[in-house]
Amino acid sequence: MPNLPYLRAVIRETLRLHPSGPFIIRECAEDCKVNGSFVKGKSHVLINVYAMMQDPELWTNLDEFIPERFLESSDEKISEHQMEFKGQNFRYIPFGSGRRGCLGRSLAMLMMHTTIAALVQRFDWTMKGRENVDLSLGSGFGVEIEKPLVCYRITRLT
Ligand code: HEM
Repeated sequence: MPNLPYLRAVIRETLRLHPSGPFIIRECAEDCKVNGSFVKGKSHVLINVYAMMQDPELWTNLDEFIPERFLESSDEKISEHQMEFKGQNFRYIPFGSGRRGCLGRSLAMLMMHTTIAALVQRFDWTMKGRENVDLSLGSGFGVEIEKPLVCYRITRLT
């Protein structure tokens, strides 16, 4: 994995634009003010991770798929540290944050890297009746793509 920085960047950019958990949920411990708005203690709060990872103040060309932004120093607005995803950096929290952050984060990253690397290394991929992937989003809570992607594999290695 350390020798596949572009794959790592592709996975991170995918999680930025298509987080599997676009909202995280918390209960407010006590009355507080957020940006001037009063939030009563015990309220349930939805945190829009999807919007945070596409905030125009923090990201350039935010709705474009640009894995290069996750390669070192390719985006002048951010440093490598700001790209870490362990929950301390609120511009990029695909796995949530804090004590209720995703427990499977490391396993998920490891599995995604090894699985996608093997699928790309061993097969070529085609799509039936389509030139490009249609990434239009559906209306569900999980922001899945509207039209399911169907791919066919062509074995490359024996
Ligand atoms: C790409 C893969 C995954 C993504 C994007 C993801 C994302 C998330 C997010 C956003 C949360 C909510 C975090 C928060 O509220 O701050 C969460 C919670 C959780 N995830 Fe994942 N997850 C992934 C894979 C996994 C895997 C593979 C496991 C287990 C093997 C796992 C186990 C959990 C558990 C147990 C929680 C609840 C933690 C708690 O409430 O204390 N996740 N995940």
